[in-house]
Amino acid sequence: MNPATAAPLGKDLVGLENMSAEQLTAILDTAEPFKEISERRIKKVPVLRGKTIVNLFFEASTRTRISFEFAEKRLSADTVNISASGSSVVKGETLVDTARNLEAMRIDMVVMRHGASGAAQFLADRIPSNVVNAGDGRHEHPTQGLLDLLTIRDHRGKIEGLKVCIVGDILHSRVARSNIYGLLALGAEVAVCGPPTLLPVATDELGVQVFTHIDDAIRWADVLNVLRLQLERMEGGYVPSLREYNRVWGVTNARLEAAERDLLVLHPGPMNRGVEIDSDVADGPHSVILNQVTNGVAVRMAVLYLLAGGQPERAEAAKEGGEG
Ligand code: CP
Repeated sequence: MNPATAAPLGKDLVGLENMSAEQLTAILDTAEPFKEISERRIKKVPVLRGKTIVNLFFEASTRTRISFEFAEKRLSADTVNISASGSSVVKGETLVDTARNLEAMRIDMVVMRHGASGAAQFLADRIPSNVVNAGDGRHEHPTQGLLDLLTIRDHRGKIEGLKVCIVGDILHSRVARSNIYGLLALGAEVAVCGPPTLLPVATDELGVQVFTHIDDAIRWADVLNVLRLQLERMEGGYVPSLREYNRVWGVTNARLEAAERDLLVLHPGPMNRGVEIDSDVADGPHSVILNQVTNGVAVRMAVLYLLAGGQPERAEAAKEGGEG
């Protein structure tokens, strides 16, 4: 077997780019047995007992930070949460110095969100602990990509052959990149749809189709992954107004009904209701948005388990308290 496909994960999880279908499937399959732990009365197994994990978040997060913490605690790891505002980063300490000081306290893993593209790889190259990218700039958000893949597979039974359109602010989106890499590797047809101002210059190099009209995209797709308009990364000029954006690009019930297809609708959150997605879609029968959040815990358990040396085929035994 090619060494790249021998283990689903190596030392770190920085991105889904260059991952094989076998690696991705092994991670998703490992997440399956871990789902059940969160449904128990006592949500705890000793899989990562004795491991110390630092959650280092330089940008705001609700879903990713909390679901990593739940995943770690449900696997019995010891966890510490650090945000930039509460650390010596505000005094000018560098990322590497921060990480080396954490290393000096004998940690095992770092889960990091950072505003700079490439920050996760930069850190992974400099510290011996496992590094998990929880989102770096516009680069990748691999665990979001994995939980999106798992949610689509749960609801459609497969990824291969599905037509998945990623809608909205592709330019600023690390979620779009991780989704594109993962979906293409697993054999989906992938498209993006959004205003030309919010598409990357080299969209064609990503190997995806491009739609410039939302109604055409909805007619084509089996699955829509609707992205948040990242207003905090825009300095103006990308869209005329939020109302205009909703009118031209918004995923609305009227548009879904006109398509006459049983579409699956995902959104990584946080949502701008009434902008990229209407509330009656977000809360309606096509939406699997909260399923994505639930799957986020299981996927992150799987990633932590595999980085700690767990074997996919032993995940079932591990969650029953057996040897991982
Ligand atoms: N999907 C996602 O990354 O959400 P948070 O920013 O709340 O973590």
